[in-house]
Amino acid sequence: MKTRHLSVSPADLAIAAALLNQGELVAFPTETVYGLGANAMNPYAIDKVYTAKGRPSDNPLIVHVASCDAVLTVAREVNLLAKNLMNRFWPGPLTLVLPKRDEVPASVTAGLSTVAVRLPEHVIARELIRLANCPVAAPSANRSGRPSATTWEAVAEDLDGRIAAIVHGEPTHIGLESTVVDTTSTPPRVLRPGGISFDAIQELVPNLVPYRSTTDLESQAQHNSPGLRHQHYRPRAKVVVVDNLSDGLPSASLTMTPQKNFYIGIHSPPWKDELHSVFICRNVDEYAAKLFDCFRQADLAHATTILCESVSDDGIGAALMDRLRRAAHID
Ligand code: TXA
Ligand code: MG
Repeated sequence: MKTRHLSVSPADLAIAAALLNQGELVAFPTETVYGLGANAMNPYAIDKVYTAKGRPSDNPLIVHVASCDAVLTVAREVNLLAKNLMNRFWPGPLTLVLPKRDEVPASVTAGLSTVAVRLPEHVIARELIRLANCPVAAPSANRSGRPSATTWEAVAEDLDGRIAAIVHGEPTHIGLESTVVDTTSTPPRVLRPGGISFDAIQELVPNLVPYRSTTDLESQAQHNSPGLRHQHYRPRAKVVVVDNLSDGLPSASLTMTPQKNFYIGIHSPPWKDELHSVFICRNVDEYAAKLFDCFRQADLAHATTILCESVSDDGIGAALMDRLRRAAHID
């Protein structure tokens, strides 16, 4: 398949919307990561999403809408808790798990009776969904198991030739995926840390259960967070989380050839000479925004090791540390 490369002009967004209506796949920017969009009400389009990504069919998709009212096209009801969260955090990087309407194809939710919904803040994303005039299922626009795509080039690297079109937006602003909250469970719980911090949500939802980072399959099955069963956020290079730079070079993890070693963090490492590429970020927000691109650049350079400075586990730092632990296989 020849993938069309589209701009964010009104004419090109109209083409992108028409492709979605024809049951085709279109990648587009959001404020978190690029999404791989498909008409959420069209089961044939949804099948294509799983095929293009190589995604396991038991990992459900997030449905994106352009207005709060449109939530009721996919969700059976919106309880008071969900309403309050929508009022406070939408549009934005918060995904709400809600009771599913029967009209939504079972493949969207991998057979679950709930559906995950998000109203993105990104102007282009919202305009595209508005033009398509349908709810848009959109997982992150990467091949399954690869780091999420934060630039259109990264989308092309993974999906060129496999999808109908890529909308060329700017690099994404947040760079990590949305926070997922299950509003159907009592008490409500965080299923994935992301762009909205636990503390911000807890202000509204005092009994909110924090996300429990674990790779223990049984406990994840109990927590009903299907996507977390699967391997995620993994570059080909080995990821090593460095807790204290002054502890000295984690030499066991480095190969002798400096061109094989990447580093990303906020502080400059004392052992720069041992490294090929060093990404110094001004703060945790920039670190989060750059992480997946750093992973991809390391892979393109055939790096063997990516050293990642650890950060404190709060705010966006919680989501960043979650992605780092997954990439490094730390429970
Ligand atoms: O920021 C984001 O959320 C991005 C952009 C494109 O919006 N999308 C994204 O989608 O990260 P994806 O497919 O990579 O991750 C969706 C996550 C998975 O962990 C999945 O298991 C979870 O949401 N999920 C989807 N539906 C669910 C449901 N009904 N119940 C529980 N978890 C659900
Ligand atoms: Mg993903």
